[in-house]
Amino acid sequence: MPEKLRENNNTPEYWDTLYAKEIATQFGRPDEQRWDYILGHIGRHDKVLDFGCGWAEALLYMIPKRPYAKFVGIDYSSVAIDKAKELLPNVEFYCKDSLDELVTMDIDVITIQHTLEHIEDRKSIMEQAWLMLKPKGKLIVVLPLYDDWHEHPEIWTLEDIREFVKEWESKFSSFVVYRPTTRWTKPDTLSEEAIIVMQKIGGKDAPNK
Ligand SMILES: C[S@@+](CC[C@H](N)C(=O)[O-])C[C@H]1O[C@@H](n2cnc3c(N)ncnc32)[C@H](O)[C@@H]1O
Repeated sequence: MPEKLRENNNTPEYWDTLYAKEIATQFGRPDEQRWDYILGHIGRHDKVLDFGCGWAEALLYMIPKRPYAKFVGIDYSSVAIDKAKELLPNVEFYCKDSLDELVTMDIDVITIQHTLEHIEDRKSIMEQAWLMLKPKGKLIVVLPLYDDWHEHPEIWTLEDIREFVKEWESKFSSFVVYRPTTRWTKPDTLSEEAIIVMQKIGGKDAPNK
């Protein structure tokens, strides 16, 4: 289990305030290398869902590179979702804090980038993601490693990533890519992240976890 560092301040109001500032100052959290890697898992005609999409920075980069794919973005910050809709008026966006009302969607690839570590009830999001995926669909979870940035309520180590993968091994077969990344919170600092590529095992039944 990741070590808890501090109280979790993850609320829609927290992110609304932060995004209002970031949008006003054009501060972004870009990582083209990560997005290019993720694009390698997205087929030409796939349906892709980005959970915790913020103001759709990743989708803005990926959509022109997969013009025939269909993209959906979800975030519970209304400030972020309003901006995302303004930037990408033809994309489906939902302002929601979970996937439970959307589980009947058939999705090929779900991405959860730098978001799962903020959420207390990870198990529900993971189960909902499993339900939404087509058989053999992929869930790509990106987690910061050894990152004690004040936004993070907990710190993830390699061991935590291994435990996480093991916890879900009956529902997803997984592999992990570890990579250095320029940390947007401290632009001169190299940070690390884990990209966990999880392929759904099984059909459309509810997970029995
Ligand atoms: C650190 S930001 C990451 C944003 C983007 N995915 C990226 O990689 O830069 C975490 C995002 O998760 C969203 N978020 C956190 N908890 C959420 C929840 N329960 N439901 C929906 N969105 C959530 C926040 O609003 C925020 O946009």
